[in-house]
Parts: sequence; structure tokens; C-alpha cells
Amino acid sequence: MRGALDHGRQQARGQDGPGPAGSAAQAARLGLGREQPGPAGRAAQQVSSHAELTAELTAAGALPAAWAETFSAVDRALFVPAHCWVDDYNGQPRPLDGATDHARWEAAVYSDVPIVTQLDDGKTVWPDTSRNATSSASQPTVVLAMLEALNITGDVANVLEIGTGTGYNAALLSHRLGDAQVTTVEVDQELAEQAQAALEAVGRKPTVVVGDGAEGYSANAPYDRIIATASVQAGHIPIAWVAQLRPRGELVTPWKSTWGSGVLVRLVSQGERTAVGPVVGDAFFMNLRDHRVPFGFAGKYGRIADEATGVPSFFSTVRPDEVALDRDGAFAVGLRLPGVQHSIAYDKEDGEAYELLLYDVDSDSWATVQVDGGSTALGEFEVRQQGPRALWTEAERAHAWWVESGCPERTRFGLTVTTDSQTAWLDRPGNIVATFE
Ligand SMILES: C[S@@+](CC[C@H](N)C(=O)[O-])C[C@H]1O[C@@H](n2cnc3c(N)ncnc32)[C@H](O)[C@@H]1O
Repeated sequence: MRGALDHGRQQARGQDGPGPAGSAAQAARLGLGREQPGPAGRAAQQVSSHAELTAELTAAGALPAAWAETFSAVDRALFVPAHCWVDDYNGQPRPLDGATDHARWEAAVYSDVPIVTQLDDGKTVWPDTSRNATSSASQPTVVLAMLEALNITGDVANVLEIGTGTGYNAALLSHRLGDAQVTTVEVDQELAEQAQAALEAVGRKPTVVVGDGAEGYSANAPYDRIIATASVQAGHIPIAWVAQLRPRGELVTPWKSTWGSGVLVRLVSQGERTAVGPVVGDAFFMNLRDHRVPFGFAGKYGRIADEATGVPSFFSTVRPDEVALDRDGAFAVGLRLPGVQHSIAYDKEDGEAYELLLYDVDSDSWATVQVDGGSTALGEFEVRQQGPRALWTEAERAHAWWVESGCPERTRFGLTVTTDSQTAWLDRPGNIVATFE
């Protein structure tokens, strides 16, 4: 089976959706796949105005009442550049041209999909493409879920956003709260300038700062709320954010381990540079610039595994789907697999067959696990592993801990951040299950 699999086409780095492959149906609707959309794709109605998008999200129950007026007042199209990219079925960003292909551009902008607005920090120039999205207009349902999680109450007077991107989220915050109440920080000068121009064009004037958002923005602190629209890496929630929150102030940020299952956390400041709070949902986001993990190594380790024919195999009874595909299992396992990444290569000829590849770039270790209908029925999976870290053995241990804990859902976990440490807990802050370096 191994020869048919290719880890080179690994998942994109992060596109601000609910998770990888979350937008396949939308890609079909937009005609962005390699195959032509089937009858269902053709029949799906294209939405071509912000009012229709608003109606669609309302019907789907994705538009929180508190954000309804603001969402319908701020047209997403006014923040998306004419040259952008939308993922196809394979998670490959495809260029879209708002000038020459306006109908398709409009259909994308008014769809519930993330729109990529920058690749490789601007080094890949439209219409070229890559899998490394570095800025985007996030998926509208994700934008709304995060704003809802931000818990804007009547006394909220000062909000900091990290990751201005297109300026769309800042426009929503400014519309709801007022321009003077919103500060937004973007690391990329060109993006910040574009966002500022888009904001001004719709009459909004929040404070737009060019800088490293990991430092927060102390000049306008303390904040009642901080929202990050780029993901932090496990163990690296910037202490500046916690320090710049008012006591009882709240921080909402996407968070993920190197294993990759992204979640949304909401931490409440306890004062004295300490914040504590639970996982409140899912959020698969591109990382803050300094939080990027080594990227593009799945193809390399897939090839190394192919060529390492002398590495002996053994059988494991731990189900790879519970380790890598089940969102609760993958989240928990990821807490205890520091530095480890994974890739799944599906067998094109056998829908049930895939290879799970685990790799750790720092220690130069890898493991592969083979899955097909037969192994799943038997409950035995062929494993090979090589390197200083026995990665599948580590994954088995992490999985055993999750199972012994009663297979808790990811929302039963939470984080505590202090100046000295960052820890994950289960059910209550005293029950620490992982400490991050
Ligand atoms: C998903 S996009 C943000 C979407 C944006 N909120 C919007 O409404 O369009 C993430 C943004 O975070 C920015 N970013 C990454 N690292 C950053 C950092 N350290 N400080 C500030 N911005 C950063 C990226 O340049 C990118 O524009």
C-alpha cells in the first residue's frame, strides 16, 4: 500500500476555518476543485450580496443576536482585495480575480469560507500560489463565534485585537463599540496600510498599529478584552497580553499544540499576571509569526520512511483515528506530544486506507502507521518508527492516559498562564495534565 501514498501534498498551514477540509463543500459550490462540481454543487445557490450572506448565517443559527446589527452593517466585500485565493478541494489556495472574474470572487466573498489574502508573507505574488497562507479574511462563522466568545458586556470600553489582516474584524468591533474603544495590531506593514485604507473607506477609525502583536500594545492598556486572530503555540501565550488585561478582563485566542488540533480558549485575568480559563470551541488558525512550527517536512519524512526499508515493523492496538482524527482524542494526545507533527496520506484507490505519519523535526524522529479496512476490523495496525524519540510509543502512552481519563471532550480542558508557567488542566485548574516548556 505504501507506494501509493504521498505526504508531499500535506495540509495547509492554517486558513481560519473550523479545521482542515472544512470548506470542501464550499469549494465545490465555487467551482474551485480539480473536478467539476457534481449536480449537488451546481444546484447549490450562489450567494452574491452581504444581505444574503447575513440571511444565510442567520438561518444557520450562526449569527449571534448581539452581533446581528453590526454584521449586517459591515460589508465583507469592502475588506477583501480583488486579488486573493480560495482553497480548492485539496486545501490548495486557488487565485481569484475580482476584476476579471467578479461573479466568482463575489460568490467567494459572500460565502462562509476563509479568503486567503497573503501567501508566504507576501513573497508568493498573486496569481502564483502555495500552501502557506499568512493572512486571510477569516471564515465568517469563525469570526462570529470568536466575537461571541469575547463576551462583550455593557461595561467593555477598551478592546485590543491582534492580527488586523484585512481590517474586517476591527471594523465589526469598531461598529459595535466605537472607534476610540478599539486598537488593532498587525505585524505586516503593507497589510496594516491596506486595512487602514479599507477601514477609512467605510468611515471607521480604530487605532491601527504596525508592530509585533505578541507584545500587545501597552500605550492603550489596560484592556477589558483582548482577541487574537492568529494562533498561539502551546506554552507561548504572550505574558504581555495577560499583563495588559484589566483584572477580570478576558482574552480570547486560538491555541494549538504542534500536533495541530486548534481550539479557541477564553482566559480571565486573575490579576497579578495570571489568567485562567477553558477551551470554548474550535479554531484552526495560522500562527503568530514567531509561533510558526517547522513547515513542509511531511514530504521529507514520508520519503525517508519509504526508503528506510530496513526499519522493522510491529503491531499496535491503538486506533490511529482516535489519535489523529477524533477531535477530542487528537487534542488530548497533542497535549502530551510536544514538538510532534503529523500528516495523513490517503490511498486514492481505497477510501478506507491511509498512512499516518508522525515526525519531530528537532530530534529527527518519525513513525508511520498503516490503516485499511482489514487492520481496522482486526484492531491491529502496522507501525514503524525511527529516531531518538519513539513517536508512536509516545502517542500510545498519551492515548492510554486519555482513555484512562474517560476520553474527555476537549472543552473539559483549560489553561493557566502565569509569568512562570503555562499549564493545561482537566475539569479544574488544580488538576494539571500538561506543563509546557
Ligand atoms: C487570520 S489573519 C487575521 C484576520 C483579520 N482579523 C481580519 O479580520 O481580516 C492573521 C493576521 O495576523 C497577522 N499576524 C501574524 N503574526 C502577528 C504578530 N506577531 N503581530 C501582529 N499580527 C500578526 C498576520 O499578518 C495576519 O494578517
